[in-house]
Amino acid sequence: KIPKICVIEGDGIGKEVIPETVRILKEIGDFEFIYEHAGYECFKRCGDAIPEKTLKTAKECDAILFGAVSTPKLDETERKPYKSPILTLRKELDLYANVRPIHKLDNSDSSNNIDFIIIRENTEGLYSGVEYYDEEKELAISERHISKKGSKRIIKFAFEYAVKHHRKKVSCIHKSNILRITDGLFLNIFNEFKEKYKNEYNIEGNDYLVDATAMYILKSPQMFDVIVTTNLFGDILSDEASGLLGGLGLAPSANIGDNYGLFEPVHGSAPDIAGKGVANPIAAVLSASMMLYYLDMKEKSRLLKDAVKQVLAHKDITPDLGGNLKTKEVSDKIIEELRKI
Ligand code: NAI
Ligand code: MG
Repeated sequence: KIPKICVIEGDGIGKEVIPETVRILKEIGDFEFIYEHAGYECFKRCGDAIPEKTLKTAKECDAILFGAVSTPKLDETERKPYKSPILTLRKELDLYANVRPIHKLDNSDSSNNIDFIIIRENTEGLYSGVEYYDEEKELAISERHISKKGSKRIIKFAFEYAVKHHRKKVSCIHKSNILRITDGLFLNIFNEFKEKYKNEYNIEGNDYLVDATAMYILKSPQMFDVIVTTNLFGDILSDEASGLLGGLGLAPSANIGDNYGLFEPVHGSAPDIAGKGVANPIAAVLSASMMLYYLDMKEKSRLLKDAVKQVLAHKDITPDLGGNLKTKEVSDKIIEELRKI
């Protein structure tokens, strides 16, 4: 069966890196690509940042490849309501796990190899969307929702991820010394799963406070294997950790639920370089490699990652990494490597 991929290029450099990624995927295997629109330009054109048709196709496909979208300025959304496409997709498809590999591919010194995964809860926490201002008290309030169901499914996802990807350890990151009820619940559930996965799969489980973790990530990233954490902590730690990789041009991600998977580079639409043909396609290409793994094309997933590794080793890189190649030229190099393997 040929996998059906819903392709959403979006805005800015999304329209540059995704076509190159599709060109590379065509080199690797047979896919049916179905193109749909979303984003700011789509909003300006049709009044909707994520049309129903896009959601419908996304639900009919085996996976979604997403570029990046621009967020309009606040005054532009006063007249017409703007729905964030990526938040809408996460919600509609219940993509509760945000998976971000922190793997340094251009590392010649294997003794201090950086290779861990951050798994972030993607639907609740401090991003539960419940925020208000109490006029009387002159107090702005954000609610941080940590549900038993939401915690269980993300923690289980993290342990299962460790089993599937032959990882040895899962670390729960929290602040349960202060957030005793919310993170207390998260940590308690983690500790229940920890027993089971230690006994059945010999996977270690441990936990660290989030503030200390922010320091450990910089000082000794080798101590991590799989990290599981709540929404906001995961958002911040994963951006911090992607700094270890050499920038946004190299950072891929996956948004995964029980029925759908959406794959996107971590970066945005990069208006400062859009249209110049110099965007680094590697973050999008590595996101596609994660998509291949999800589609159970593990060998092809690995081949694609290896090709990227070769291209980085040869310093065939775009300006963000200190090179002078264009987006298309880097993709050509990746295709050359694929043909060699
Ligand atoms: P950004 O990620 O677009 O750019 C930040 C910096 O990194 C810029 O200097 C950019 O040139 C550089 N950069 C990013 N990706 C690159 C690549 N592949 N190759 C070379 N350089 C790259 O973040 P920024 O500037 O904060 O946001 C721009 C727009 O993108 C905003 O409208 C923002 O809301 C949106 N955005 C969308 C995201 C998404 O669609 N998931 C995620 C982050 C931001
Ligand atoms: Mg972020």
